Amino acid sequence: MNQYSLADAMTDKGNFTVSKLSDSNMGFGVLGVFLGLLLEVSTHGPHGVPRTSWKQQDLDLMEFSEPGIFNYSTLLLSEERDALYVGAREAIFELSKKNVTIRNNKVQWTVADDSMTMCTLKGKSKERDCLNYIRVLQVVDDQRLYVCGTHAFQPQCDYLNLADFSFEGRPEDGRGKCSFDPSQSFTTVMVDGELYSGTAYNFLGSEPIISRYSPSHSLLRTEYSTSWLNEPSFVFADVIREGKNRADGEDDKIYYFFTEVSVEYEFFGKLLIPRVARVCKGDLGGQRTLQKKWTSFLKAKLVCSMPELNFVFNVVHDVFILKGEKIRDTVFYGVFTSQWGNVGLSAVCAYNMTAVEEVFAKGKYMQKATVEQSHTKWVRYNGMMPSPRPGACINSLMRQQNITSSLHLPDKTLQFVKDHPLLEDPVQPIGNRPRLITKDVNYTQIVVERVQALDKNIYDVIFTGTDKGVLHKSVVFEEEVHIVEEIQLLKNSEPIKNLLLSSETQSLYAGSDSGVVQSPTAFCSKYSSCDDCILSRDPYCAWDPNTAACVNIIIAPRQQHRRLIQSLDGDANKCPSVPAVSQKDYQHVTVKPGSSAELPCLVNSNLAQLIWKSNGSVLTEASRFHFIAENGLLIYSVAPEDQGYYECWSVEWAAAAGKNFSRLMAGYILTLDLPPRPPHQASPVVTTIGSQETSSTDAAEGNVKTDRAPLTSASFTATVLLTSPPQTDSSLTPPPSSTLKFQPKQQVPLNSVISHPDSQDPAAEYLQHSNSMALLFLFLLFFLLFLAAVVYNCYMQYLPASCLRLRAALLGSHKSPHQPEYSACEAGLMEPAAATKINMTEQPTQNGSQTTQNLRALRDTGYETEPECGNGQVPSQEKPFDVDCDSQSIQFADAD
Ligand SMILES: *[C@@H]1O[C@H](CO)[C@@H](O)[C@H](O)[C@H]1NC(C)=O
Ligand SMILES: *[C@@H]1O[C@H](CO)[C@@H](O)[C@H](O)[C@H]1NC(C)=O
Ligand SMILES: *[C@@H]1O[C@H](CO)[C@@H](O)[C@H](O)[C@H]1NC(C)=O
Ligand SMILES: *[C@@H]1O[C@H](CO)[C@@H](O)[C@H](O)[C@H]1NC(C)=O
Ligand SMILES: *[C@@H]1O[C@H](CO)[C@@H](O)[C@H](O)[C@H]1NC(C)=O
Ligand SMILES: *[C@@H]1O[C@H](CO)[C@@H](O)[C@H](O)[C@H]1NC(C)=O
Repeated sequence: MNQYSLADAMTDKGNFTVSKLSDSNMGFGVLGVFLGLLLEVSTHGPHGVPRTSWKQQDLDLMEFSEPGIFNYSTLLLSEERDALYVGAREAIFELSKKNVTIRNNKVQWTVADDSMTMCTLKGKSKERDCLNYIRVLQVVDDQRLYVCGTHAFQPQCDYLNLADFSFEGRPEDGRGKCSFDPSQSFTTVMVDGELYSGTAYNFLGSEPIISRYSPSHSLLRTEYSTSWLNEPSFVFADVIREGKNRADGEDDKIYYFFTEVSVEYEFFGKLLIPRVARVCKGDLGGQRTLQKKWTSFLKAKLVCSMPELNFVFNVVHDVFILKGEKIRDTVFYGVFTSQWGNVGLSAVCAYNMTAVEEVFAKGKYMQKATVEQSHTKWVRYNGMMPSPRPGACINSLMRQQNITSSLHLPDKTLQFVKDHPLLEDPVQPIGNRPRLITKDVNYTQIVVERVQALDKNIYDVIFTGTDKGVLHKSVVFEEEVHIVEEIQLLKNSEPIKNLLLSSETQSLYAGSDSGVVQSPTAFCSKYSSCDDCILSRDPYCAWDPNTAACVNIIIAPRQQHRRLIQSLDGDANKCPSVPAVSQKDYQHVTVKPGSSAELPCLVNSNLAQLIWKSNGSVLTEASRFHFIAENGLLIYSVAPEDQGYYECWSVEWAAAAGKNFSRLMAGYILTLDLPPRPPHQASPVVTTIGSQETSSTDAAEGNVKTDRAPLTSASFTATVLLTSPPQTDSSLTPPPSSTLKFQPKQQVPLNSVISHPDSQDPAAEYLQHSNSMALLFLFLLFFLLFLAAVVYNCYMQYLPASCLRLRAALLGSHKSPHQPEYSACEAGLMEPAAATKINMTEQPTQNGSQTTQNLRALRDTGYETEPECGNGQVPSQEKPFDVDCDSQSIQFADAD
């Protein structure tokens, strides 16, 4: 059995023959390879980590929702009218594009009682299905929108007048334009007043259709056949304009993206395949063959895989077409996951428009062939091709042959394209691999913006929304992709259903079941130091040394650009040098002996490593009672030798710059308050600097005292400010030395893991202290009891032989016991049954392999043996392993 995987089958360009996969044993092999791979890929595969994570409460995002209204999943931006139109359940809103919290208009579209009754009679739920989910919002002209809703499983469309935001009230049949079922996938695009859609044409949702509704022509649609569309899940459609000056006079094209069940691969179960399909705008259908059907419908497979790991992303969830000035600059970006969703990997693949056109213009066709009686397979068509090329748009050459529209196409060409809508050649991604792979997320939406950075280069910035309400922002560099940040857009962990980008307002708009959120494309001002601004590698952000602020270059005035510092390598050495902080300026922390101290240190980079140094040498958790948490250092039970200097360093590896950047984030001087004082005497020392948020009595009674400020996050800010240049932004102005301002907005709030000693009352502190002592005592007690039990059992000969040997050694002679015997005793304690089995099998066996197999028999589960069969490594022909892989897999294949 040769090693062959689905990835090869799906990625190779031409040398693939269907027979390889159609062999059902092979299908089983594919599963085996997959099961093995899933683990490998999810643990070892390349994947990105966002550098910074922003929580919803850290950001000031604008949100819109209305009580009682849900499913804000249809969004439409109007550049002309400065509006964001939102289609929700039974309502349409017009929001301000600059600020979505401002609602300019609203109209409701509910379902009449009789339609509702019809719907419920057909067995649909009144609260969920039999409502009007607005699914289509398209601009018709400057006065009107075209709106369609599921309308209680009877889709309807109407025109919405923008002047008074009301419906014309002449609802049209929405069949084929809008899905019946609100949970079913669909896509639409309006091109020159004609509505192109991909959806289901019937109540059951079983008849998929790609169609065009036009006021001037009759309806054009796909043939109802599994070779055209096989259980598709539509994700996106858009038009690509060819431009008037194209030499061959080709037509504009509408591209559709969807995932469907493959017909060309035989697999047990349904194998999903991501597709790109295309129709020509000028198509009018055929004269006799393909009447009122597309004559230009062709589809091809989209490849998104990791060749070196043989891993395939075969489900496309969303596509964004990044339109360049020229066709060859146009790129399709898609987000993919694997059909085997539990691996938790998402990928972004990019496709060159030229490569896509090449496949449609020159690709080989696939054809259905009957083999072995009734069995059909899809194989490459190698026969004669009719002319003009089937599925091609009308071009100048055809016009010369008097074929001026699809109505004049010869029957031979039409019959061919009717039977061969699928191309064999796949569309390969740029670089033959995903642009981005991320672990533990499911991407649902994608938008991309091209940004010209200060180095004059153009970077594609990818925004991907997840099914948990999070947005990832990634930048494509030549060799790699860097995830700049992840932003929690939605309060609840729910999917982002729609994502739009407006370059004009520099905003992203996300629609979800519970509302609409507007977010800026960059959060430059949240980077408070030059290092942070540069290390973020965000093409939108640059450091202004004059104002000491991280600014958005798109918003900043042009004349400011010359002095801005930006290094997309993340070379923070470009930053102006900052005077070193003297140890004298470190913050003083004084604690009572035996109590615990916490030293906060916050780093907002997930790529940075925190290093704590005390007296200049690196601390590890192993050294004494230290706990290095995400946001600080916790020292349990401070002893006199713990006193000294403590520094928190952030070490960030900037791969593109090939350097480590170390930054001092916080410095402390820890001292012990040695002579124990009664609690009420302390007040005169402590309240030197009364910060507004900490009452002086609290500080006085707490046993942690600082001579600069109480140990709160405010004091942390003070330390950070020492290490970074003066800020001009008013919120960042260093507070005058006598008053420390609490600035919770400037930092990630301290996790509750570390409590603030100054906020605790002394009694609690005492309790905590005595608690740890009590725990230690209990632990020692249990340990002694355990030892006693082991010794007793050993002495009473209750334990296995090896232990007895130890006992003999200890009691019988004064020879010191051997280490191996000791560990055997331990093993005996833990797994007496297994140990006896080892002893039993050891004696009667002559050959070693038999033993190992018997042992495997004990451990192996059915699950583990299956992939082994699949991999073609049948372990043995002996009895317990006489697994008949062939018959097993056939049974599996037939089960479907
Ligand atoms: C509509 O929103 C509700 C409430 O969030 C959700 O339970 C439901 O699944 C949504 N329905 C659709 C079709 O999106
Ligand atoms: C797409 O491919 C064409 C031809 O190979 C090339 O000229 C063009 O630069 C590519 N475009 C992108 C965006 O990679
Ligand atoms: C196209 O039509 C014109 C006029 O009807 C005719 O003269 C010409 O021969 C035709 N050309 C071809 C290639 O059929
Ligand atoms: C991704 O989606 C799949 C299928 O819906 C689900 O099983 C999985 O838990 C999700 N993974 C993550 C990381 O959200
Ligand atoms: C730091 O140095 C001081 C004085 O040299 C010493 O007393 C203290 O124990 C040192 N602290 C640590 C944590 O090494
Ligand atoms: C960069 O710092 C990391 C973490 O301290 C370290 O593991 C790595 O070896 C350093 N690399 C270089 C080139 O200094």
